[in-house]
Amino acid sequence: MLNGLVEAFAGDGGRLSLLSRRASSSPVGDGFDCDYHDEAGFAAALAAAVARSGPPDLAVAWFHTLKIAAPRLLAQAVQGRMIQVLGSAMADPDHPDRLIRAAAVADGLPDCALRQVVLGFRMEAGRSRWHAGAEISAGVLEAIAADRLLTIIGQVAPWSARPGG
Ligand SMILES: NC(=O)c1ccc[n+]([C@@H]2O[C@H](COP(=O)([O-])OP(=O)(O)OC[C@H]3O[C@@H](n4cnc5c(N)ncnc54)[C@H](OP(=O)(O)O)[C@@H]3O)[C@@H](O)[C@H]2O)c1
Repeated sequence: MLNGLVEAFAGDGGRLSLLSRRASSSPVGDGFDCDYHDEAGFAAALAAAVARSGPPDLAVAWFHTLKIAAPRLLAQAVQGRMIQVLGSAMADPDHPDRLIRAAAVADGLPDCALRQVVLGFRMEAGRSRWHAGAEISAGVLEAIAADRLLTIIGQVAPWSARPGG
């Protein structure tokens, strides 16, 4: 879903590091293979990326869970902005604390300016649907340009209108 974002970054003339299980197969950027559930493996990949390109001044982070060490390790490495991409459940009004708890990843880190981007849903002809990957990439790029503390791509209200809700 962030392929479009990667392609846009690859064309902007800066250094681009990718960290994922199969990052080295990417045709663009410098790929560092790791599983973000593996703390030591993620830390080693991040250290290799920083050694090659310096501390990230812009990091876009998509983790399926925040109950792992990797998000904090990334936040500690960032010297600039960290864009935390979050699933729509983070905006569930029954759990108003979730966004605050997610933001704690950057607590006490003055060099890491956290921005949150929540993947909402889209209404079309009275029906809701999830976003396509290209819509998510475009939404994250817009959020980076606007530099808001919180961006909702699409909508999360009414929460009951979400697909399958
Ligand atoms: N709200 C919406 O409209 C909407 C729409 C689409 C998707 N989504 C959300 O996005 C999720 C699916 O996104 P997706 O299709 O892009 O797939 P994904 O499985 O989240 O993969 C996205 C990226 O994360 C990497 N990745 C996944 N697991 C990893 C791990 N353990 N360690 C390191 N990197 C990992 C993958 O690369 P590698 O394979 O190289 O590791 C891939 O580049 C859904 O669960 C949903 O929550 C929301």
